[in-house]
Order: sequence, then structure tokens, then C-alpha cells
Amino acid sequence: MAFVEVTNVRKLFGGRDTGVVALDEANLAFDEGEFVALLGPSGCGKTTLLKIVSGLLPKTSGSVRVGGKEITGPYPDYGFVFQQASLMPWRTVRENVLFPMEILGKKDKEATMRADELLGLTGLSHFADSRPHELSGGMQQRVSLCRALIHKPKLLLMDEPFGALDEFTRLEMNDLLLKIRDETKASILFVTHSISEAVYLSDRVVIFSRRPARVQLEFKVGLPRVRTQSVRFTPEFTDAERRASEALGILGAH
Ligand SMILES: Nc1ncnc2c1ncn2[C@@H]1O[C@H](COP(=O)(O)OP(=O)(O)OP(=O)(O)O)[C@@H](O)[C@H]1O
Ligand SMILES: [Mg+2]
Repeated sequence: MAFVEVTNVRKLFGGRDTGVVALDEANLAFDEGEFVALLGPSGCGKTTLLKIVSGLLPKTSGSVRVGGKEITGPYPDYGFVFQQASLMPWRTVRENVLFPMEILGKKDKEATMRADELLGLTGLSHFADSRPHELSGGMQQRVSLCRALIHKPKLLLMDEPFGALDEFTRLEMNDLLLKIRDETKASILFVTHSISEAVYLSDRVVIFSRRPARVQLEFKVGLPRVRTQSVRFTPEFTDAERRASEALGILGAH
């Protein structure tokens, strides 16, 4: 049994006749520890799928199971990273990271130690007592990553988390994320608009069709798990980019 199983999920926003079908028979399954990148045209239903997997948004029909349990509402075992860091400006960096623990009623000494450990891992130790506005966009997104990881979730849902960053910072964040994945062993479902980011990060690329989204193509990335930026210049990398580009209709080959 897969760790996350999305089976025939349909999502209709609004009424039956006038509403928008965002997802139609969306299917996706992945194993514990797997890194899945999700690509698809704008407006096809990627964010909708992530929200349904997180239990934040109800589905119209179909089934979502995480760790064997049917998801019917929010649950504590996932972390969500949005495109915008959305930190609380009045709180320090450390207090922002600790926020989920507060909600879970587990903000204790151990949690504070873990917050500091995560801030260390992401190179933010010196900014633990700073306010978000004193940080760059990339640093703020690192804080939101720490916040998503503070309660040691088994599943990390990421919705274009690095989309607002410049290319160089994005590449740095990619390597940081791979390092964190190795340390936490979390399963990751990562939405991106960047084909090369999807290939660089993931074990498997899933491509959604136009709305209503269905899986158009799905393939394993044939690259070693330990990756450095030089892998981008190998034929295997270019091959994977080409397959994704074709499925997205960018090369006009389908
Ligand atoms: N709360 C809502 N009410 C009504 N329609 C919605 C709602 N949320 C999303 N939709 C519609 O569902 C469709 C899919 O939206 P979604 O945000 O999931 O797309 P997306 O693939 O994440 O797009 P993007 O790549 O631009 O972020 C869109 O047509 C959108 O207008
Ligand atoms: Mg979206």
C-alpha cells in the first residue's frame, strides 16, 4: 500500500451546472520517503489537489488516504509550505517557527530546541530573534520551511514554494530541501512551474493535463538520489526535461 493514495478524486467548485470542475478523476500514489514533483498548466487544479490532500478542502468524490487512513479533515501529520512565506510580522523568527507547536499545545523546551536546530540547519541561527521584515525573501521562505517541519511531519506539501525567488536563491533552496529531505526522510509532494526544478528535486515527475486535471504523464527520474547542480548538464537530465516539456505541449510534440 502506498503512503499517499489519491484515487479518482473529483472537485467541483460551485453548482453542478454552473460550477468549475477543478479535478476529474485525479489519481496519484506515492511511497514513504518519495519526492514527487507535480507540474501542470496554470489553473489546472494543482493547489486544489494539495489542499484536498491536506484535508483543508473537502473533495466532491473519490478517496484520499495518507498512511492508510481516509482523510476527511485537517490532521497534524503534514507540513504545508505556500508560495508566500506568510509569516506573522509581529513575531520573531523563532516564534514563527514554533507557531504550529503552539496550536498543537506542544510548545515546550524540546520544541524550542528543535526550532533552533532547524534554524541552524537552514543557516538562520543568527536571525532567530529577528522579525520577518529584517529577512530577505529567500530567508523568509526558509523560516516557513522550518515552521512546516517543526512537528516532524511525515508528509510535506509544497505549493510553488520557491516560485517568487530569483534563480540563484532558488537553486540554493533546492539543495537545502534535498538536504532536509535526507535528514527528515519526509515524503514530499512539490508543485512547481519549473520543469528543471521538478526534474532536479524529484524521484518522480507527475504531469497534470489542463483543467479538469488528470494525470497526463508520469515518469521516474533516472538520476542518482544524491544530486549536485552538475547533474543538470547530463543527458539523463535533459532527457527528463524533454519528456516533461513534450507532455506539457511546450515542444508541440503531442
Ligand atoms: N475557492 C474556489 N472557488 C471557485 N473556484 C476555485 C476555487 N479555488 C480554485 N478554483 C478554480 O479551480 C481551478 C483550479 O485552481 P487551482 O488553484 O487548483 O489551480 P493551479 O493548478 O494551482 O493553478 P496555478 O498553477 O496558477 O497556481 C481554477 O479554474 C480556479 O479558478
Ligand atoms: Mg496553484
